[in-house]
Amino acid sequence: MAPNTVNLRIDAYTRLYAVLGDPVGHSLSPVMLNAAFSQANYNGVYTAFQVKDLPHAITGIRALNIHGCSVTIPHKAAVMDLLDEIDPMAMQIGAVNTIVNEAGKLAGFNSDSPGAMAALLEKTPVAHRRVAVIGAGGAARALAHGITQNGGQLTIVNRSPDKGQQLAQELQSDFCPLTDFSGVGFDILVNTTSVGMVPAIDRMPVGHACLHPGMTVMDIVYNPLETMLLRAARDAGCTVVGGVAMFVHQGACQFERWTGLKAPVQLMKKTVLDALRKAP
Ligand code: ATR
Repeated sequence: MAPNTVNLRIDAYTRLYAVLGDPVGHSLSPVMLNAAFSQANYNGVYTAFQVKDLPHAITGIRALNIHGCSVTIPHKAAVMDLLDEIDPMAMQIGAVNTIVNEAGKLAGFNSDSPGAMAALLEKTPVAHRRVAVIGAGGAARALAHGITQNGGQLTIVNRSPDKGQQLAQELQSDFCPLTDFSGVGFDILVNTTSVGMVPAIDRMPVGHACLHPGMTVMDIVYNPLETMLLRAARDAGCTVVGGVAMFVHQGACQFERWTGLKAPVQLMKKTVLDALRKAP
């Protein structure tokens, strides 16, 4: 069997996993996690549920003994009140994107933060580095907590000062208004805004002058695969980290929590890249 061919072995022992969100039609989690289950010879299957009524969906997980779920927009915060236990890191971030059904007890985790850190740490150390996180929304919160946990010196850079200042204060980090940001003195820059995402791909959240050789630039946007920011960063001599790496690593964290096995990260990455290249 080709390494990325999904081998569906469904029987009475198969464990069911799913992503809960609205919309979920474009989610790449099913293709990525089914490939991982298959590669690991794990008897699980992963599907997608478009969920409008979250409380009933959670009741359904309990009733059907679904083994684990990913949670995506718009349910990452609301799901927290419906679970039995929340991991302290997810509580701090204020978002759960992973549910583990531990013998009937539903536990909530956040894999976006460790996933983003794993993607970044593949390319650069974070401890004692000066890191600018652009944005102050949900994705920024996950990134920012990961950066401070890993000993990075964080600055929140945001368009709206009040929202940016609030997050910076919570994390005891610095704040810089987006209009004042020059990039000078920063080792790492992470874009957590949607600027540059399809269809408006000819935009970047900061000017070219903010990028300098030796800097590591990460973008959480993965459609397009290379955003205008990453192309400009590459041209400026920066190390770049694309959004696919974060998506794959957060999925790998979920896989490991659910199965107890080591995630086949390279296969997961190849599966996602193939799916994105094939997408219309
Ligand atoms: P998510 O939860 O997915 O991170 P969000 O909560 O809508 O999304 O947050 C988006 C972040 O991107 C915000 O910090 C937003 O800045 P504001 O706080 O000023 O709204 C930022 N953002 C979105 N579009 C932007 C743009 N065109 N230029 C600069 N920042 C932008």
